[in-house]
Amino acid sequence: MKRLITLFLMATLSFCSYASEDMALQEADIDLSDSESLQRGAKHYVDNCLGCHSLKHIRYQRMALDFEIDDKKVLKDIAIEGATIYDQLHSAMNSHDAEKWFGVQPPDLSLIGRSRGADWLYSYLKGFYVDKTKPLGTNNTVFKDVGMPNVFWQLQGQQKPVFHLVDGQQQIEKLVIAEPGKLSEQEFDLMVNDLVNFLVYVGEPVQMERHRLGKYVLFFLLIFSVIAYKLKKEYWKDID
Ligand code: HEC
Repeated sequence: MKRLITLFLMATLSFCSYASEDMALQEADIDLSDSESLQRGAKHYVDNCLGCHSLKHIRYQRMALDFEIDDKKVLKDIAIEGATIYDQLHSAMNSHDAEKWFGVQPPDLSLIGRSRGADWLYSYLKGFYVDKTKPLGTNNTVFKDVGMPNVFWQLQGQQKPVFHLVDGQQQIEKLVIAEPGKLSEQEFDLMVNDLVNFLVYVGEPVQMERHRLGKYVLFFLLIFSVIAYKLKKEYWKDID
């Protein structure tokens, strides 16, 4: 019984500390038919994220096809210098350095749109704030003690939290810009929204490929059952 009470207390406490960091998610505006937004998102990704995070499930050629633009435009406006249209988006970061610098590997983000969801990603990318107690000097409203540096500090500026008391606990009420960056708030929101739109898209072709594969499997099963049925008839003919 004692153990049960301890367990119950631990569960309640861990829930409380989790809740104290959790802010409501902000909504992303996702539109996978908006080619311009996807192109801008892809460009922002290559400029700001590819240094650390690969997207191994997608090639530039696939983007050209899905965004309905020329291969040449993809290579000129989106891809890193020297890339070919058949390249996947590999990060140049080697895993040894990554572990040394951040203590964790920056994960491949091919499926992040599906696993975390658009609103989480949008809130995460807008949720970095100054926290001097952390090794990287930054924390995040939806990913407590995050191991990723704030890559937007120059564009968005530096955000500081405003706290309020909820049930005797300090909770972040909102973030405010303490030092402005190069972009206005609207410009930054649009940039992050385009990035999230792109990441949601990246998760989709993978799903589309799975569906295509699924159809082949069904087709194979159908053919196979016809053959099996014919074979069965053939065998029974001899026995009769
Ligand atoms: C300097 C390296 C670096 C750059 C640049 C960077 N990240 Fe990260 N990112 C990391 C590391 C390291 C982690 C792992 C954090 C952890 O697990 O604590 C991470 C984690 C994440 C996660 C959370 C993954 C999860 O576990 O669910 C997302 C989403 C993400 N990054 C998106 C981005 C996006 C989008 C960009 C570009 C705007 C970007 N990152 C740029 C290093 C980087």
